[in-house]
Amino acid sequence: MMDKPETHASPYGTLPPASPPASRKPVSLPRLNEMRARGEKITMLTAYDATFAAVADAAGVDSILVGDSLGMVCQGLTSTVGVTLADMCYHVQSVVRGIQRVQGTTWVIGDMPYGTYHESPEQAMRSAAALMQAGAHMVKLEGGGWTTETVRFLVERGIPVCAHLGLTPQTVHALGGYRVQGRGESATVLRRDARALQDAGATMLVLEMVPAALSAELTQELPTCHTIGIGAGNGTAGQVLVMHDMLGINLGKNPKFVRNFMQGQGSVLDAMRAYVQAVKDGSFPVNAEHAW
Ligand code: KIV
Repeated sequence: MMDKPETHASPYGTLPPASPPASRKPVSLPRLNEMRARGEKITMLTAYDATFAAVADAAGVDSILVGDSLGMVCQGLTSTVGVTLADMCYHVQSVVRGIQRVQGTTWVIGDMPYGTYHESPEQAMRSAAALMQAGAHMVKLEGGGWTTETVRFLVERGIPVCAHLGLTPQTVHALGGYRVQGRGESATVLRRDARALQDAGATMLVLEMVPAALSAELTQELPTCHTIGIGAGNGTAGQVLVMHDMLGINLGKNPKFVRNFMQGQGSVLDAMRAYVQAVKDGSFPVNAEHAW
């Protein structure tokens, strides 16, 4: 009698495909453009490992940001400054493997960590190449006008770029803390930088802790660069939250712009689904509650 074939099922978490691959189109830049054109909000969550990435994919999250916020939520650091390129590559690889295991479709963004793109476009290219080889579809970098040359350099070489303005955590010490950016005079600089980044070819722009009215105006002014807000109100093209915060996995008080989507849900999958639903139908964020 023949032995039964081995199943290779792992006892440490199961990752079956969320749905047959044929019914799910991979998220790509053209698909993100289509979503924007029809006014569909883009959903983004951070994830740092295979299982959470697979669950986010199954929940219908459009884009996963492997953020350098992993310095705080995974490594116990007090800021993102200590995160290295090797750390980022490790986590991007883990996330991408998780998505591949479930034949997922999510767009993956790898964050360029502190000090890996600041010297020159060439240095940025080497760092971006490492993240792309780890499996990212796009890289994200923080900063205003001084990054435009680098963004153009990467985009010309075929690397999709997400910019990041407003509260940029890698420069938290220079900014004097985690506080709202783009109020008063500084709105003019932020607006100028956002336009320059779009002109340089950035196709996404995270706006963090930026007044809701300014973010909504910028979104109108940037047709080819999709604004993704975090603490930036509901007028952006999409939203992002740090996964641990939106699941209530912390001991302190969440920032004002976070909703705990685990409340009232029985599973992480359902909490992520609730987040996707709330962003898509416009019920999250609520400007009066989550924005400035
Ligand atoms: O690193 C990160 O997770 C981020 C988000 C907070 C936007 O940059």
